[in-house]
Amino acid sequence: MRDFLRGLPVFAGDLPVFDTDKAPERPDELFAAWLAEAVDAGVREPHAMTLSTVGADGIPAARVLILKNVDEHGWQFAAHADSPKGQDLARHPAAALTFYWPARGRQIRVRGPVRPEPADRSAADFLARPPGSRAEASIGRQSRVLPDRRTLDAAVEPARR
Ligand SMILES: Cc1cc2nc3c(=O)[nH]c(=O)nc-3n(C[C@H](O)[C@H](O)[C@H](O)COP(=O)(O)O)c2cc1C
Repeated sequence: MRDFLRGLPVFAGDLPVFDTDKAPERPDELFAAWLAEAVDAGVREPHAMTLSTVGADGIPAARVLILKNVDEHGWQFAAHADSPKGQDLARHPAAALTFYWPARGRQIRVRGPVRPEPADRSAADFLARPPGSRAEASIGRQSRVLPDRRTLDAAVEPARR
C-alpha cells in the first residue's frame, strides 16, 4: 500500500501561482474568484466541502456538504438541526470547512463560529429545493440506523404528498 500511494501523483500539471499582493482584502471575494477558476478548470462539484464539527465525545466528526452561499457574512450550508452535525453545532457552535480543487492544486480552509440563519431565510432555502429533496429533508432522521429500505420509502411517500 505504501508504494502504491507513493506512486500516485499529487499537484500534477500546471498550477497557478498565488500572488498575495493581488489578493482582495476579503477572503470571501478571493474564494469567489478561485471558485470561478475551479469551475473553468473543470473541477467537479467544487461547491462540495468537508464540514468538521466537534462531537460530544470531543472527537472531530466530518462529512461532505454542499455550499449554499458565501458573502461577507461567511460560508453558508444547510443541515438538519436534529442530525448528528446539527447536535454537534448546538453543543459547540464552531466548525471548520475544507475544500480541495485538484485541477487548481488549491485547498481552502475556513474555521470559526457557526450561527443559525433566521427561520424565514432557512424556510426560503428549503422551499427553493426540488420537491423530492424537500420530501427527503423533511423526514429528518439523518444518520440513524434504518431497519430496512422500505421504512425509508414509507416515510418519503407521505412527505412527498
Ligand atoms: C456530495 C455530497 C453533498 C452533500 N450535501 C449535504 C448537504 O448539503 N446537507 C446535508 O445535511 N448533508 C449533505 N450530504 C450528506 C452528508 O455528507 C452526511 O452524510 C449527512 O448530512 C449526515 O451527517 P451527520 O450524521 O454528520 O449529521 C452530502 C453528501 C455528499 C456526498
